[in-house]
Parts: sequence; C-alpha cells; structure tokens
Amino acid sequence: KAGEAKVMIEAHTLLKRFYHHLLVYTKEGQAALDYLQARGWTKETIDRFEIGYAPDAPDAAAKLLDSHSFSLPMLEKAGLVTKKEDGRYVDRFRNRIMFPILDHRGETVGFSGRLLGEGQPKYVNSPETPIFRKGMLLYHFHEARVPIRKRQEALLFEGFADVISAVQAGIDYAVATMGTSLTEEQARILRRHAETVTICYDGDNAGMEAAWRAAEQLSALGCRVKVASIPNGLDPDEYIRVYGKDRFVGEIAAAQPLMAFKMNHLRRGKNLQHEGDRLRYIEEVLREIGKLPSPVEKDYYVRQLADEFSLSLSALNEQLSRYKQETS
Ligand code: CTP
Ligand code: MN
Ligand code: MN
Ligand code: MN
Ligand code: MN
Repeated sequence: KAGEAKVMIEAHTLLKRFYHHLLVYTKEGQAALDYLQARGWTKETIDRFEIGYAPDAPDAAAKLLDSHSFSLPMLEKAGLVTKKEDGRYVDRFRNRIMFPILDHRGETVGFSGRLLGEGQPKYVNSPETPIFRKGMLLYHFHEARVPIRKRQEALLFEGFADVISAVQAGIDYAVATMGTSLTEEQARILRRHAETVTICYDGDNAGMEAAWRAAEQLSALGCRVKVASIPNGLDPDEYIRVYGKDRFVGEIAAAQPLMAFKMNHLRRGKNLQHEGDRLRYIEEVLREIGKLPSPVEKDYYVRQLADEFSLSLSALNEQLSRYKQETS
C-alpha cells in the first residue's frame, strides 16, 4: 500500500514536469501560456506553481508513463488515465492548463486542469485516490505552513487561482479549499496552525453563504474568525488584477470579526426603516448573539443592538434567554 502510494506520486511528479515543459518550452503550449500571461501571471509565478499544459491528444500521458514502466492499471487507480471499452487507456486531462496539487509534504498527489477559455466543465480534477483526498488537503498549505504559524493567521480562499494571485502579490499565508465546502478535517488543520483564520471567499452570494458556514465551523473549533468581503461580485484573483495589491491588502486588513460580518449579511435584502424588517433583523441578530460563547462578547453586542434601535437592555436580555431555552 505504501509502495503503491510512492509509485503514484512518482508518476504524478514525472507528469507534472512533462506538462510544465510543454507549457513553457513548446509551440503546443503557446496558447495556454498566452492565456496564463493574459491573466497576469508572470513566468516566475508559472514556474513557482509548476503550472503546465496537457496536450490535445488522447493518450500523451499514458504513453509517456507507460514508456517509463508505470503500470496502466495503477495509473488508472491514480486517476491519471481511464480505460476504454476496447481496453485502451486514455488520458483524463486533455487540452487543459494543469495545476499540480501538492499535499502537506510537498508531494504531487493530484491535478486540476482548466479549460483555456470559457466552457464546461471549467475544471477537471483528479478523482479521489489513495493519495488524493480532496477534503484532507488545502492548496498551497505545504508552502504556507511556516508563514501561517509565524503570523498565527491563515488566509482562506475558495479557489487556487486566488492563492496564486495572492502569492504573486507577496501574500504568503494563503491557502484554498478547492471548490468544495470546508471539511471538518481542513478546519482542524487550520486550527492546529493558527489562532486566526481570515476567510476571503468570492464576493458573490454563493461565496458569502459559504463564508458564513466556514466561519461557523472554524469558530466552533475555537478559531478567531474574520471575514473579508470582496466588493462588486469579484473574486480575490479578479480584485487583485483590477485594483492591485495594495487595495487588496487593505480589504484583508478591513476584514470584519464574525459577528459584524453576520450583522452585515443579515441586513442584506432588508429595509431597516420598515418595522417588519427591523424586528426580523433584531431577532436574527439576537439569535446569533445567543450562540456566542463569551458572556462579555454577548453583552457587548446586546448593548450595540440596544443603542442602534433604542431598545432596553432588559428586553433584549429577556428575549436572549428565551432563545437559550429553545435551543437547550
Ligand atoms: N471548481 C471545480 N470545478 C468547477 C468549478 C470550480 O473544481 N467546475 C473548484 C476549483 O478548485 C476552483 C474553485 O472551485 O478553484 C473555485 O471555483 P470558481 O470560483 O468558479 O473558480 P476560480 O478559482 O475563480 O477559477 P478561474 O478564476 O480560473 O475562473
Ligand atoms: Mn465562486
Ligand atoms: Mn444568508
Ligand atoms: Mn472564483
Ligand atoms: Mn477566478
């Protein structure tokens, strides 16, 4: 079993180098290279993340690896090729920009392959294999671990494109889940290495909903959570490209503590001039306050609510204790 994992990693490592070579040094890879550079990624960034190009051929990877004596059934189990009905093996990744995925030890255990332009599916990922378990991995954690420990803070993105642009901009404590919601295991990894996690998901509705869920999960594990809200529906990568590094760093510095983020989120779509919306908002915020572990924090936010809406502390606290009974 351990031997098999080792061979799978060797196959991924060889293939990674092959794809990178095609991207950077061959005519076949030129269009992919143009695409990456048009996205604003430099040669140095492309090298650093070992980005590559999988050619538009049915079995380039299968042939290369077969010629290096890797067994095709093993490569199928590793997710690199699939077996056709006629018994031939074909590549999983074709005509895609290839992002190697490294585990926490820096071993290459999977790939994500992106289309050169628009279309579906935008990304094809390695399937779950003995070496690639998506829910256990954080993209770029291998490199970011030391900076995260030093700062006691991790910056968490949704997509690896966001990590790549952040790193190019000089931000070294960034990691990403790869599209799936944050798993318990990923949350634990973050908790083990940092006191604070700053969540910086895409600035669309889905991103904000996902940020809320991730924030709840991390704070349940005892992390201090902050949430950065990227404006105008952009994702962090797009934001850095449009507004530059300095403004992005400003957005991160302006990340809100969890409760402030929740209050903002709960305000959305409500008109607080209207009594019905206002009452609903107050109730929703109170329920969130009720979940806070610290009595001091509770008191702080109850007072804030009392001030903003000219309510008595005693009424708010009474309501709060009712929620507690409901949930206990
Ligand atoms: N993802 C995926 N399959 C898809 C779409 C997304 O696996 N069809 C994952 C990828 O890991 C991606 C992450 O979800 O990094 C976030 O998705 P999205 O925001 O749509 O992608 P971006 O990271 O913004 O990618 P790009 O900028 O290249 O469009
Ligand atoms: Mn998204
Ligand atoms: Mn919501
Ligand atoms: Mn995105
Ligand atoms: Mn993007």
